Amino acid sequence: MLMNKKILICVTGGIAVYKAVALVSKLAQAGMDVKVVMTKSAMEFVTPLTFQAMSRNDVYFDTFDEKDSRVIAHIDLADCADRVIVAPATANVIGKVANGISDDMVTTILLATTAEIWFAPAMNVNMYNNKAVIRNISRLRTDGHRFIEPSEGFLACGYVGKGRLEEPEKIVEFVHAHFTPKNLPLAGKKVVITAGPTRERIDPVRYVSNFSSGKMGYAMAAAAANLGADTVLISGPVGISKPHGVKVIDVESAAEMYEAVNAEYDDAAIVIKSAAVADYRPAVIQPQKIKKSTDDAIIELARTTDILHSLGERKKQQILVGFAAETQNVLDHGKSKLVKKNLDYMIVNDVTDPEGGFGNETNVVTLLSKKGLHKPYPAMTKNELATILLQAIIEAEGFGDCNDC
Ligand code: CTP
Repeated sequence: MLMNKKILICVTGGIAVYKAVALVSKLAQAGMDVKVVMTKSAMEFVTPLTFQAMSRNDVYFDTFDEKDSRVIAHIDLADCADRVIVAPATANVIGKVANGISDDMVTTILLATTAEIWFAPAMNVNMYNNKAVIRNISRLRTDGHRFIEPSEGFLACGYVGKGRLEEPEKIVEFVHAHFTPKNLPLAGKKVVITAGPTRERIDPVRYVSNFSSGKMGYAMAAAAANLGADTVLISGPVGISKPHGVKVIDVESAAEMYEAVNAEYDDAAIVIKSAAVADYRPAVIQPQKIKKSTDDAIIELARTTDILHSLGERKKQQILVGFAAETQNVLDHGKSKLVKKNLDYMIVNDVTDPEGGFGNETNVVTLLSKKGLHKPYPAMTKNELATILLQAIIEAEGFGDCNDC
């Protein structure tokens, strides 16, 4: 859920800055795109280099240090963030933002952003209980900002009480809970999708493959993630960027895809096999480049495992969805594969259709199910189709009502 989400961490000056380092590290490890902005006081405790190493991004602290001439840094950072966390949030920054003051990079961004801002205060217990601070916190809450309460315990100043920056693990949990959609029909369900072609090596420079672009599978993965699923995309070699919020496992051959799918299969709720898996591979992969001769060449091919067939044989709770790429007798072939591979659904497409098939942005398919569903869809973009197909499956399986999806 956190994968590729953009989070801006505003670090202000208190001893708890060291905990913000752990927070940035954990958020980056969770796949978030983490950017850090620091105040001058924060830099008295930890250098920007530490945050740069943890976030793998530039760290910002000077409103007038424009690293990229195409954008205005503080506006760009304010606009790009999905969420902003101020951690640690000092009494000073809380006071400034509550009163609309923007006199450095952090406070300017906090005024410029329309993203939700969370403050994670850290300060001495008496400061936290100070009437002005209480008033400022209350004003920020009224303005729609959120707070991650400090915890109680030993404070660096020697006091015991409320004022410790919440532990980084807890803050990551908040972030996680916040980004996990609650009412989506596939929330809490694991959906495994395969996409693209496989490549079967002949020698170090050649392979056998097919024309699959991976677009349909990638569209299915993006749609599954948008419908709340924990989505795993097992992808053959393709040239498209990875969808947000999806765990992508890159594979090359049918054998690698088989291994990857098996590893993800047991706890999957839905498995969608949109990959165009090679049915044959060279019987022997030559270790050196095959040199040409004057004669014609014959490459002996061996069968690959039919991944979907093997999944169908040991199916438990999984709903199995196949794709059938056909050039003739499309529906008959699709129906027979549905039965032979013990599938729940088969999405059949005629790859000779000018609006469907490999490489196109659009597709024309018919959804068949083992319970007798037979639903043809008109030509539409693969992205639109992916959502519609998943919604049809969700409704047929009783996973939820897609009216609000
Ligand atoms: N499939 C698979 N493993 C294979 C071949 C196919 O998992 N080795 C899956 C595909 O991902 C797809 C479905 O089986 O979901 C149907 O694939 P398709 O290529 O249309 O049919 P095949 O079963 O390979 O039969 P044929 O090539 O003879 O049409």
